[in-house]
Amino acid sequence: MPTSTPWLRPDSATRYGSVSRLFHWTMAFCFALMFAAALAHFFAKDTPVYELLWPLHRPTGTLLMLLVVLRAAWALLHASQRPPHLSQAARLGHLALYALMLAVPCIGLLRQYGSARGFAPWGIPLMEARGEKIEWMTDLGRLLHGKLGWVLLACVLGHVAMALWHRRSGDTNVLPRMIGSGEAN
Ligand code: HEM
Ligand code: HEM
Repeated sequence: MPTSTPWLRPDSATRYGSVSRLFHWTMAFCFALMFAAALAHFFAKDTPVYELLWPLHRPTGTLLMLLVVLRAAWALLHASQRPPHLSQAARLGHLALYALMLAVPCIGLLRQYGSARGFAPWGIPLMEARGEKIEWMTDLGRLLHGKLGWVLLACVLGHVAMALWHRRSGDTNVLPRMIGSGEAN
């Protein structure tokens, strides 16, 4: 008799569960938008692509800040039942992704707060306009936000390349841990 696949699968030693996958792919989609907007900001200001994407940068970045906190909490709570890291390098790579996913929007939001301008992402009033700027916050943002954002992009490209390389090299194929049934082929 065919067995039905449970709708909500937990994390296990061979695959990430439904919640982990939902976090991973929703955030991957949002990060793709963020980097497209950042690239348009850097290379193609005053083009229709920039006009379309840049207004999404701060609201989507704020949403990502919330999602990464929830995702990190989920990962910590289920650490013992998730697929093991392939190597120490993979562990450090994932740690670096988490550190940057937290630091980049956090510094963006600090800069926004320090600017003393009001901020209402997705229409939700998060920061009120004030009189006085906070210089150290805007300076920190100017110094680090964009640079660390590009470092994060480089790490994401490395992460995707490694996932594909493991599959091609005949090493453990990690893709089924995050996509599909969880059975390596
Ligand atoms: C989650 C992730 C985020 C990523 C990956 C990200 C990435 C980037 C990158 C790579 C740049 C540089 C663009 C350039 O050099 O032209 C940038 C610029 C910028 N980001 Fe973000 N960002 C994020 C979140 C945020 C948030 C939450 C805010 C504010 C609420 C924000 C506000 C800005 C602003 C205002 C700039 C333009 C800075 C300037 O004109 O010098 N970002 N971001
Ligand atoms: C096409 C894009 C992507 C592919 C194919 C992909 C693939 C994968 C795979 C196969 C794993 C499991 C690796 C293992 O267990 O060794 C994984 C885990 C992970 N990925 Fe991605 N990924 C992509 C995009 C991203 C992006 C954009 C980020 C973050 C900015 C990211 C962050 C992570 C993290 C932190 C993990 C560890 C598991 C977790 O806590 O969620 N990935 N990814």
